[in-house]
Amino acid sequence: MKIVSTIAEVRQQVREWRKQGLSVGLVPTMGYLHEGHASLIDASCRDNDRTVVSDFVNPMQFGPNEDLESYPRDLAHDAKLVEDHGGDLIFHPEPSEMYHEGFSSFVDMTVLTEELCGLSRPVHFRGVCTVVSKLFHIVQPDRAYFGKKDAQQLAVIRHMVDDLNMDITIVGCPIVRESDGLAKSSRNTYLNEAERQAALVLSKAIFEGMSLVKNGETDCAVILGKMKTLIEAEPLAKIDYVKIVDCATMQPIPVLDRPALCAMAVYIGKTRLIDNFFTEDL
Ligand code: PAF
Repeated sequence: MKIVSTIAEVRQQVREWRKQGLSVGLVPTMGYLHEGHASLIDASCRDNDRTVVSDFVNPMQFGPNEDLESYPRDLAHDAKLVEDHGGDLIFHPEPSEMYHEGFSSFVDMTVLTEELCGLSRPVHFRGVCTVVSKLFHIVQPDRAYFGKKDAQQLAVIRHMVDDLNMDITIVGCPIVRESDGLAKSSRNTYLNEAERQAALVLSKAIFEGMSLVKNGETDCAVILGKMKTLIEAEPLAKIDYVKIVDCATMQPIPVLDRPALCAMAVYIGKTRLIDNFFTEDL
């Protein structure tokens, strides 16, 4: 397993693999890897001859008052996890390698980015689409792997690949949870003991929503009402949003009459956590 920090080194390695006729998978990450990322690397190693993991905290997708500076970083830990799971190359660039002076081109998207996280994080998806496009151009993978925990991001990337005719298969992988239900996230490290306990309210509400849908409830107001009541009972939790949206457009729907995503963002203290389920997965 190699770690490189320049675009030229990634390109050279991928060219060598291509000459040997090998397929390439890409797992884009912001590092501080956990079992959720490991499941993406496992899926890539299963489907491709070689796997590249990008490890880059992308400044462009953070708003001015967000956690860019405090976002956890640990390359040595990441390298061990990638190696243990069979990854072949880590691309760990400095911001200046990705965004040279005078950088002024962006990939932006309407409609799908207007709701959910796009509402509370207005610059986020422009940063995600731009960096992911760059990573796709740099690595030119056959397949790229994203977690369903960032459900809107997955939908946005699938849509971008389709809109811009990128010849890459996007693979969405299931949410990985702690044994008590909390969805794995690098941001869970921000939680103190009381907050960690309080954070369980997200998965409890998700499981409640899933069970209502499985039992035939189709009225989104009823489902969301019960989920919100559960969250509001937790004093350390503050809802950013809990919504049910059309999977294709990410726009809210009143009735479950098509494939839908039920998604939430909730502050536990100062930490903003997300969780969701797709009705099609039930
Ligand atoms: O999901 C993430 O970790 C990031 O948004 C991504 C896709 C690596 C882009 O920076």
